[in-house]
Amino acid sequence: MTVEYAICGTRNSIIGLPTGLKILTEGGAALDAVEESIRLIENNPYDITVGFNGFPNLMGVVELDASIMEGKTRRAGAVAAMRNYRHPISIARKVMEITPHAFLVGDGAERFARALGYEDEEIIDELGIKNYYNIMEGRNLEMPPEAQQLVRELFMRFDDHLQEVMSDYPVKEWYQKLSFEQQGTTNVICLDQNGDLAAGVSTSGLAMKFPGRVGDSPIFGAGIYCTEEAGVACTGNGEIALRLSTARMVADRIERKQTPERAAELGILELKQIRDKGVLHILTMDNKGRCAGVTNKSGLYHYYADSSMKEPEKRASHYIKISK
Ligand code: GLY
Repeated sequence: MTVEYAICGTRNSIIGLPTGLKILTEGGAALDAVEESIRLIENNPYDITVGFNGFPNLMGVVELDASIMEGKTRRAGAVAAMRNYRHPISIARKVMEITPHAFLVGDGAERFARALGYEDEEIIDELGIKNYYNIMEGRNLEMPPEAQQLVRELFMRFDDHLQEVMSDYPVKEWYQKLSFEQQGTTNVICLDQNGDLAAGVSTSGLAMKFPGRVGDSPIFGAGIYCTEEAGVACTGNGEIALRLSTARMVADRIERKQTPERAAELGILELKQIRDKGVLHILTMDNKGRCAGVTNKSGLYHYYADSSMKEPEKRASHYIKISK
């Protein structure tokens, strides 16, 4: 069966996918469907991993990352470590469309957003602040008591005693455990009626990250990639996708005629090459609308819809156990 158009997204994308599907059904562009879907996810105050109320960094400040990429031209735009704007996906698209650049970070990204007339605002409310203190005070996490001590030490002694704290505590392991338990970030990939693919990613990144930490989400080739034949995007522990160049590797395999499922499976199997614990979920869709979600964490899922469907359906992502 030929698919005229299709959309897929990570498990937190269901709030936005029906809008993206409507855009595609009416003949709209994949880029528009990606952006509009993700804007709705960024607006969701209950999603603590994306946009408004995204999880703050160690100092309690929300820093957002986002990227968007078009397959047929490989045009791409991204922003990172951006404060005070709830729709980094739209700023990323503007970076792609109207600047000579592909990637703006921090103050520069905020200045660009301001110059375009986007409204700066507080992007965390009482709920987001409560979530932050829940981790600061060790609540709602299956963490050993030392974890609570560690996060306090990191917060209070960051500027003057960071090296000492890092040598006294298993900081890296703590972040790996946290990222295993706190899954988030959103991916949306769309195929439109012209046969064009686009992919987008938006995230507040790793909870309690160091200020300025940027993960895979805005990095082309790591957390996102899109060609004429395949869109790929990742969620999970961004340091892993960065180190393995996951998105580009998966897209290349699809270009070389592997199925999306097999290409993503091989992306997950690459986790064997590194020793660290961490979660990776790879979402991919090709220009025939064939979609796959593959991961090394059990119980994850994604959503998919195409021209034969009225609404997105939930699909279990293929779990591959990676033994360390
Ligand atoms: N995968 C999202 C991040 O690590 O920031």
